[in-house]
Amino acid sequence: MRTLIVHYTPRNERSNTRKLVEAFRSEIKNSEIEELNLSRDAPDLFSEERLTAYIQRNYLGAELDHDQKKSVAKMDRMTEQLRSADIAVVAYPMYNFSMPASVKAWFDSVMLKGQTWDVREGRYVGLMDGKKALVLVTSGGFYDKDPTASLEHALSLGKAEFHFMGYSDVRGILAGGMNAGDDSKGSALMGYVGDVQKIAREWYGTNTQKT
Ligand SMILES: Cc1cc2nc3c(=O)[nH]c(=O)nc-3n(C[C@H](O)[C@H](O)[C@H](O)COP(=O)(O)O)c2cc1C
Repeated sequence: MRTLIVHYTPRNERSNTRKLVEAFRSEIKNSEIEELNLSRDAPDLFSEERLTAYIQRNYLGAELDHDQKKSVAKMDRMTEQLRSADIAVVAYPMYNFSMPASVKAWFDSVMLKGQTWDVREGRYVGLMDGKKALVLVTSGGFYDKDPTASLEHALSLGKAEFHFMGYSDVRGILAGGMNAGDDSKGSALMGYVGDVQKIAREWYGTNTQKT
């Protein structure tokens, strides 16, 4: 089994999000682990050249020349990395009600037609059937009820992308309240760490069945 951990946590050791990632990692059993740190290995954006190469190859079936292949090489590398994983964990903070641009660029890099999704008989089909995905998001505020619930586009978008790619089991945790004082943030984080570990134990068969 292979697990891919993708994270955007540029605050490193001080990152709230990183704590959830480490909580998950500590429960992984019997799996190779691969890590992609998006603040150190930034995904490419769809420049004119890259988008043209992608459309020509993935929509029109054309053969790419050397320079075109090179232009989409990083997107292909990230896509292959995701395709080879049975379990994908993607973790990031909420920025301006959505995901950080680097995380969106990663989704744009891996959601390639013919690789992770396709169109068959006029319908969109996800190609990642049988795989699991977990999206971990931390935010300063709370988004579980109105009037802020409608502003939440960080977790909902991440989960939607995995559903679109056909993942069979898509989970998500939005750890709100990270801008609160240290005491209430600390106890909230402990609760979220428990939620993350519970999912990992279920997926890696290390659930002790304690209730
Ligand atoms: C650039 C930036 C934008 C942010 N935007 C929001 C936001 O829209 N809503 C929110 O609740 N928190 C927002 N925050 C707070 C972070 O989501 C929160 O502190 C998060 O836990 C930071 O994660 P980290 O500790 O892993 O860096 C923002 C923080 C930064 C740095």
